[in-house]
Amino acid sequence: MQLYVAFKKELENSPKIVYIEYMGRLLIISNRLPISVTRRADKVNFQASVGGLATGLASFRDSHQSQWIGWPGIAKDKLSPQQQDQIVDRLGEHNCHSVFLSAKDVRNFYYGFCNKTVWPLFHYFPLYTVYEEQYWKAYRNVNNAFCETIIKIAKPRDYIWVHDYQLMLLPELIREKLPDAQIGFFLHIPFPSFELFRLLPWRKEIIKGLLGADLIGFHTYDYMRHFLSSTARIAGAEHSMGSLAVDDRIVRVDAFPMGIDYDRYATAIEKSTVKKRLATVKKKVGDRKIIVSIDRLDYTKGILQRLEAFDLFLSQNPKYKEKVTLILVAVPSRTGVEDYAELRRQLESLVGRINGEHGTLGWVPVWYLYRFLPFEGVTALYNAADVALVTPLRDGMNLIAKEFIATKRDGKGVLILSEMAGAASELGEAITVNSHHKQEIIDAIKEALEMPVKEQIELNRLMQSRLCRYTVTRWANDFLEGLADVKKTQAELSVHKLTKSVREQLVAEYSRSMKRLFLLDYDGTLVGFADRPGKAGPDEKLWYLLQALVAEAQNEVVIISGRDKETLSYWLGDTNSSLIAEHGAWIKAKDKEWEVIEPLRNDWKDTIRPILELYADRTPGSSVEEKDFSLVWHYRKADSELASLRIQELRDAVLNLTENLDIGVFEGSKILEVKNIGISKGHAAERWMAKDKWDFIFVAGDDYTDEDMFSILPESAYSIKVGYGISKARFNLDSVYELRSLLEQLIENEKIRSYHVKT
Ligand code: G6P
Repeated sequence: MQLYVAFKKELENSPKIVYIEYMGRLLIISNRLPISVTRRADKVNFQASVGGLATGLASFRDSHQSQWIGWPGIAKDKLSPQQQDQIVDRLGEHNCHSVFLSAKDVRNFYYGFCNKTVWPLFHYFPLYTVYEEQYWKAYRNVNNAFCETIIKIAKPRDYIWVHDYQLMLLPELIREKLPDAQIGFFLHIPFPSFELFRLLPWRKEIIKGLLGADLIGFHTYDYMRHFLSSTARIAGAEHSMGSLAVDDRIVRVDAFPMGIDYDRYATAIEKSTVKKRLATVKKKVGDRKIIVSIDRLDYTKGILQRLEAFDLFLSQNPKYKEKVTLILVAVPSRTGVEDYAELRRQLESLVGRINGEHGTLGWVPVWYLYRFLPFEGVTALYNAADVALVTPLRDGMNLIAKEFIATKRDGKGVLILSEMAGAASELGEAITVNSHHKQEIIDAIKEALEMPVKEQIELNRLMQSRLCRYTVTRWANDFLEGLADVKKTQAELSVHKLTKSVREQLVAEYSRSMKRLFLLDYDGTLVGFADRPGKAGPDEKLWYLLQALVAEAQNEVVIISGRDKETLSYWLGDTNSSLIAEHGAWIKAKDKEWEVIEPLRNDWKDTIRPILELYADRTPGSSVEEKDFSLVWHYRKADSELASLRIQELRDAVLNLTENLDIGVFEGSKILEVKNIGISKGHAAERWMAKDKWDFIFVAGDDYTDEDMFSILPESAYSIKVGYGISKARFNLDSVYELRSLLEQLIENEKIRSYHVKT
């Protein structure tokens, strides 16, 4: 912890320092490498990829001895073996490693699943979304190919940071191969609401894939919220303050709004190349006002809608004719996808119409450039602009908006920003618009063109001060620090894990002892959870396991459950173990009949039952179970968000009615139970322990009702919680499977021992 504090301090004093000592190397994994390869006239060319991640992490990379793994941007089939070697060598010099993809993979993975399935769906364009089995197959294959490359490179202390929607299966694939790896995942696009995400036929696999990471990051709290809601509904994994228990790991989910390399943009104007380009633009435009619009040519960016608004702006405000120029830069992108080609056609015809209708001999209202602009060109335009029009229909973050503000050294200029961009939550001083509301954009353009300079400067300074603090370096540090934190929490929890040596000691004590008591919870401990409680009966293996355990003369086996006595008798009566039902209300010692532990009232049930039934009717998927001394509201199959709301209402309603009775309301695993306060597994366990002088006590459980047992045990008892989380049990085991295998080991050991004794 001290290290983190020291590190944080250092970071605050110098936002440039970037070495996190507690980690090994940083492996950055993204679809695109920071260097792109193209082929022209049979020759391969290398050029630096631009884009937030590659440029932003440039300074960061050196200090972390980072390695970057990704696709070089060209299909393998187009390259000779010599060219492939050339690429490997050249990229290797920059610590980059290529994952080569075939032309078919590029078609089905990149153009297919990435850009025709995930991209449109996650940006709320379900009608553009294509669901194709072969795309999905390619997506799986390519994620696997990335995994293979990574495991060849990764070393134990490395931090593996996977980026973006092209690689959502990768965290789990890496986890399978390297169970202890530190894996982070960051999504650069929006995570849609469950209503959209559920449309994806492979939604379960995607959620599972992402949950292989230790830390999952999003740009905004909204995306994080949507993801958590989908994990709860699809994988049944509920979070607590952004942490989820996945198998034996804690996974954290958090928001980290990505920043930019602030200084690079703020000082751009000092470059002579930028000054020169700026002068050229100014000279060409004259004293007209300039509005800039720069995007990848993508339907999510709202370029057509923006142009239509500019068209109407000119019609509604004739005084601005010949007084304003819109410079519209569309950077070619994903040209192999038909929707993008169609968008280009529509855009060009719209630009033509606007220029034709409004233009004059000396004035072209829209300057349209369909090309990639280098850093100098972009920053010259930002500097020249009076207004930046950034109105995506949906955008994960949008760094253009941030770059524009950072570039404005003199503070002059106005940003019009869509509220559908992630950046809107940080740039509250911009003029925000609903990008679907044309009149709002028109009014915003007018307001921006007429905003007093003093106000422009005031607003921009506020945004600048925020952006220069939370830079891309800071963002990356924050993320990696978060990842280190999760690993620390995981390590703390695993301290209680039943280690090999404790296990050996437990087995040895078992063998030595003569009077052994087993108190075993049933659901979640001996069997996993089922959709419907009635479906969780014992399988054959468990049945034999219990029989074998009971068969040892020294063993007393007690199943201690919240279930009703009829179910327990039906399922486990033949195993010859003793049974405790309804959390201790009923007891059935081996070979005896059921008896109540003490006289209990249940006349309160008539008052409470109608309330629970009302809630069951109002909450689809939930139901009421009646036991002799308790009433239970089950909601495992209900919508988790609705259920959590209902639970609070229900608890209040029941507590109001039971104030003067010995009745309590208890929350368990997807249940809310109303029962007599005096009843608990703890009391029942105490009674059983008092029955004899046990020299070996073994207690296993998984939820809060079992904590009552754990808390009354003598120190020497072996108490085991199945699963993770804070517990009074001395040890944790990962799963039902592990607990069963421990019990099997005890029996096996016994067999071997008695064999030796006999021979
Ligand atoms: C978005 C995505 C990136 C992607 C970039 C360019 O920003 O989040 O992952 O690399 O667009 O798209 P492209 O398809 O050219 O890689």
